[in-house]
Amino acid sequence: MNQDQLKQAVARAACEYVAVKAPTGAIIGVGTGSTANFFIDELAAIKHRLDGAVASSEATKRRLEGHGIRVLDLNDVDALPVYVDGADEIDHGLAMLKGGGGALTREKIVAAMAEIFVCVCDQSKWVQTLGKFPLPLEVIPMARAQVTRALLQLGGQPRLREGFITDNGNLILDVHGLTISDPVALENRLDHIVGIVSNGLFARRGADVLLLADADGVKTISRPVT
Ligand code: A5P
Repeated sequence: MNQDQLKQAVARAACEYVAVKAPTGAIIGVGTGSTANFFIDELAAIKHRLDGAVASSEATKRRLEGHGIRVLDLNDVDALPVYVDGADEIDHGLAMLKGGGGALTREKIVAAMAEIFVCVCDQSKWVQTLGKFPLPLEVIPMARAQVTRALLQLGGQPRLREGFITDNGNLILDVHGLTISDPVALENRLDHIVGIVSNGLFARRGADVLLLADADGVKTISRPVT
């Protein structure tokens, strides 16, 4: 199976998961990226069971609406039983590195409200230690140089994502060269640097369930009890 076929298989599994876990008439959260796009396409088949979805980006909103799925503002929603999203990397404790598509801030906000975070990945994303994929930071434009200096002090090499503006009107710095042995500690530390809107570590609120596709099929991995 090629990578797109793996993404499609895991998207189908996520849709089956939603059909079981989300009560009829539920509103679910939907992530951003190519795997999430496959999921949205699968979701169209069970849209009659849902009241709608909350989108984590403008691109996801457009794709959901393209399938006739109602998109609600997060402020108008009281509960999200399930949030489904991809990741750029996920470790064995189900901490994730996300934001390759630049939607990390809205993804984090929607995920924070969800009861169950279902991460959908192909096997290439399953890692021992996060950090090979550059860590995205959403940064207020006037703080770009200041945040760059702070990250250099932490041992990273931040690079501006050229020609990219987030849905919130901000910049993305992609930080190379970090070995993230303690994702919660680094997420906390980055949360305290002024000018960073959000960082791509989803460790404090990691995934609850990982659906991981490889050549043998889709495995369901639950977050280890700590
Ligand atoms: C979007 O900002 C990201 O967090 C995505 O969830 C992540 O980049 C995974 O994307 P793919 O499914 O395209 O690999």
